[in-house]
Amino acid sequence: MSRGGFVVNIADLVDAEAGTQNRRIFWDRDVYELELERVFGRCWLFLAHESQLAKAGDYVVTKMAEDEVIVWRQEDGSIKAFLNQCRHRGMRLCQAEAGNARSHACIYHGWQFAADGSLKTVPLEQSVYGPRFDKRQWGLREVPRVESYKGFVFGCMDPDAPTLPDYLGDEKWYIDIWTDIPGGIELLGPPARSIVHTNWKLPPEGFVGDVYHLGMTHGSILKVLGAPVVDFKSGMGMQATSRYGSGHAAQFSHHSSMRDQISPELADMVPPRRVEDVAPEKGEAYANLYTSMWDGTIFPNCSYLIGLNVFKVWHPIGPDKIEVVSWVIAEKRMSEEAKRRMKISVNRTFGMAGILEGDDMDNFEHSTQPNQGYFTRQGTLNAQLGHGLARLDPDYPGVVSDMVSELSIRGYYRFYADCLKSKNWQEIQHNSENWKEQLL
Ligand code: FES
Ligand SMILES: [Fe+2]
Repeated sequence: MSRGGFVVNIADLVDAEAGTQNRRIFWDRDVYELELERVFGRCWLFLAHESQLAKAGDYVVTKMAEDEVIVWRQEDGSIKAFLNQCRHRGMRLCQAEAGNARSHACIYHGWQFAADGSLKTVPLEQSVYGPRFDKRQWGLREVPRVESYKGFVFGCMDPDAPTLPDYLGDEKWYIDIWTDIPGGIELLGPPARSIVHTNWKLPPEGFVGDVYHLGMTHGSILKVLGAPVVDFKSGMGMQATSRYGSGHAAQFSHHSSMRDQISPELADMVPPRRVEDVAPEKGEAYANLYTSMWDGTIFPNCSYLIGLNVFKVWHPIGPDKIEVVSWVIAEKRMSEEAKRRMKISVNRTFGMAGILEGDDMDNFEHSTQPNQGYFTRQGTLNAQLGHGLARLDPDYPGVVSDMVSELSIRGYYRFYADCLKSKNWQEIQHNSENWKEQLL
């Protein structure tokens, strides 16, 4: 890959075994273009939660990287996704964020597309188009793979990608713990949106396993709350990473402790997480996580916080800007009043002006701005915390470590590097075969 006369060696961008990353991946436009093709063009990307698409005709407009897509519930109950672009002259087709419709008509010349993507009507077709025009050739371009896991709908542009459950890998076992609660969960919207001037990888990196920053970055808030919320001692939590880059970090026994301090009114309204509610056959590891506060990322750009109940997608807009879209995670069994209050609670912490969101986004912006400097944008970054201390654990799937580690960050960039250097999924599978050895 060449850029302005320089050659970028993809193999040099990430050293998975050393746990270092070249700064170039945070600013280089050529690397970004490669990410659009080889990361976002290959991986499963979050589209919607089924709770947003309850009835036939319900749709939401979202993005897969910078490509807008319409995610649409079909008459037969299945979900399809299409590029949000008229096939005539390329106009954005649907201008709304969400709604219910049997079809969308383009506001430029009026081509009308049905929910199944087919081109339904063309103004003046009989009188001006002539016999060569074939409507069947000009339906919306469909996202080839759409799958749902526990109500979370993902899309993938690559027909050769593994199934969504396989792609979640070892992380699937952990995701089941926070989604398989009595009655299930839903995402409450409409989502909050904001623009942050950062490279798109920094927020998912933070959410995949950066517990280390809590004491410093959020120190003032933790002090105001009046109690040390995070116990950094070994054995108080865990983190894990998986083959395809997804991971998390969990602090045992603290599921709602921070939320209870910030929004005490919720304590009586939301069923508490108790170890004794977990069936004994699920085991201690499961119970530890069920009652944990944790943060995680589904590779590449979707993150969540359990306990503080926020779900976020980080859409890239070039190498130095993102759109943040945030929903509230609620238990379906909660009362309407509890859901309303949960929204307020999430706004206090991780809404656009949330007390913790501001701390984090400030860091991400100030870690991106130095890329303006000729010298400050060069060199490597260090994610070596806990290097050599990871383990395989009979109770926890994936590669595992103590809670305060950068193992999950190393796992995230390890798979990221596999994507960049592989031409297709076959090569990704081959390159990631020894992923555990690379991280241990
Ligand atoms: S661009 Fe959509 S109808 Fe012409
Ligand atoms: Fe943070």
